[in-house]
Amino acid sequence: MKRVITCFCVLLTALSLVACSKEAPVQQPEPTAVVQTTPELSTNLPDNVTPDVINTEKQTKVLIAYFSCSGTTEKLAQYAADILGADIYEIIPETPYTQEDLNYNNSSSRANQEQSDPSARPAISGSVENMENYDTVLLGYPIWHGKAPRIISTFLESYDFSGKTIVPFCTSHSSGIGSSDTDLHSLCPDTVTWKPGERFPAGTSKESIQKWIDNLNLSPENTVGTFNFETKTVLLNSGYEMPILGLGTYSLSDEECESSVSALLEAGGRLIDTAYIYHNEAAVGKAVRESGVPRDEVFVTTKLYPNQFANAAEAIDESLERMGVEYIDLMLLHHPGENDVQAYKAMEQAVADGKIRSIGLSNWYVEELTEFLPQVSITPALVQNEIHPYYQENDVIPYIQDLGIVVQGWYPLGGRGHTGELLGDETISGIAAAHGVSSAQVILRWNLQKGVVVIPGSSNPDHIRENLDLFGFSLTEEEMAKMNALDRGEKHDWY
Ligand SMILES: NC(=O)c1ccc[n+]([C@@H]2O[C@H](COP(=O)([O-])OP(=O)(O)OC[C@H]3O[C@@H](n4cnc5c(N)ncnc54)[C@H](OP(=O)(O)O)[C@@H]3O)[C@@H](O)[C@H]2O)c1
Ligand SMILES: Cc1cc2nc3c(=O)[nH]c(=O)nc-3n(C[C@H](O)[C@H](O)[C@H](O)COP(=O)(O)O)c2cc1C
Repeated sequence: MKRVITCFCVLLTALSLVACSKEAPVQQPEPTAVVQTTPELSTNLPDNVTPDVINTEKQTKVLIAYFSCSGTTEKLAQYAADILGADIYEIIPETPYTQEDLNYNNSSSRANQEQSDPSARPAISGSVENMENYDTVLLGYPIWHGKAPRIISTFLESYDFSGKTIVPFCTSHSSGIGSSDTDLHSLCPDTVTWKPGERFPAGTSKESIQKWIDNLNLSPENTVGTFNFETKTVLLNSGYEMPILGLGTYSLSDEECESSVSALLEAGGRLIDTAYIYHNEAAVGKAVRESGVPRDEVFVTTKLYPNQFANAAEAIDESLERMGVEYIDLMLLHHPGENDVQAYKAMEQAVADGKIRSIGLSNWYVEELTEFLPQVSITPALVQNEIHPYYQENDVIPYIQDLGIVVQGWYPLGGRGHTGELLGDETISGIAAAHGVSSAQVILRWNLQKGVVVIPGSSNPDHIRENLDLFGFSLTEEEMAKMNALDRGEKHDWY
């Protein structure tokens, strides 16, 4: 860090404060929160999908918040607001910065003093009205000594950003966004979706800002946990997209597993669920590698079994080796058990090491989650629990979803030995007949409309294709209510 600052100071001495050339004291207008309204964003649902069943009411409302002393960041913030039709808010210091305050060559200048004190929180004049109305905040600032000015910390600590998406961007003379991105992220609650930030030089064009914004995917479907029925994906709180339907591989032999995964990938399915204890991770990996589908288009989940928890780091490496993949998309702890916190921390370390992209839990219910979550650093991206029409977990699902965690159901068709009764259920087969689809499709579609990801197990290619074909019909509110009324609290396995 010291080296960066030294080089930078030499460079900037030559440029002699060109970057911060506003006259002192900097004149600031009164803070304005709302200058424009976000235009409506369209949704592309199939013709026969009723919008009131899927939550399409939600629209992304974006706020551009920025701090700028010499106008560089301000200009880009204005471009962004124009492009998005977003509201814009200037973070204005209660005590404006004079030119001498901004003198980075003087170690006792105000800016330098603040930057060397992590606890400094310069006060802000005014505030954003109705922050709760915004889903997404684009947060702009200049780089000061490799970091965000401390007033950005004041801003982040002044509001509850839970459930919102924050995208930082900065301008600088030559430094990158560096650790300012992660430092600011650490000030936010776990439920914030923090998108990787971007640094821009002075004079960046509006077209470049447009390109950056296009790549951010700020559509309403891209908020954490909201199912996108067009792309058939959901954004996890880890920042990664996951397909909302796929294949479960429990009890499939190596041969069955390999051909089932191949059938899934051939039919366009991209989500596969396996586990150490299914003894078929190698078959899953082989089918994925030999499919010709690019690795980054496939999403592989596996799980650590409790007997691996004590040596989880080794178990993660073994899993990667068995599957022959460079990274695991999602790893879950299969059940609560001795050393589960320790195993979860090993998964957190594997995320930092790039071995796993997202982590989560399986068979954790309200009580278990309440006890577990305060002990870990990364909020699980997903919880996988038993969910089918006879065991609906209607109390557990919203609890998990409200934490910004995606829910996935196992035994969606009731599990082997129970599928006959469930698929033959009169209510379900009646709804299926009305739509000209199968009972399995009705159950899977019901899950999706409840925001539950499905991974039906199958070794039958016809079933695998059928289970992916869930987007040509939708269940009405009345049909959803009928399905919900089938709950018997009847668990089909012990965990
Ligand atoms: N985390 C956990 O503790 C846990 C526990 C259990 C399961 N899981 C995961 O959840 C996945 C799903 O559970 P599961 O596979 O055990 O049970 P399931 O998906 O509820 O049911 C699988 C059964 O349904 C049949 N089936 C599938 N599609 C069908 C269709 N369209 N029409 C008629 N029958 C159909 C399959 O037979 P065919 O082969 O003939 O299609 C198979 O016998 C597992 O594979 C596993 O990945 C996780
Ligand atoms: C106190 C201070 C420290 C700075 N530190 C850096 C730095 O570490 N690296 C860098 O590239 N630019 C640095 N700069 C330059 C600013 O980041 C750059 O000029 C920025 O674009 C100014 O944005 P603004 O006009 O929106 O205030 C510093 C400027 C000031 C005033």
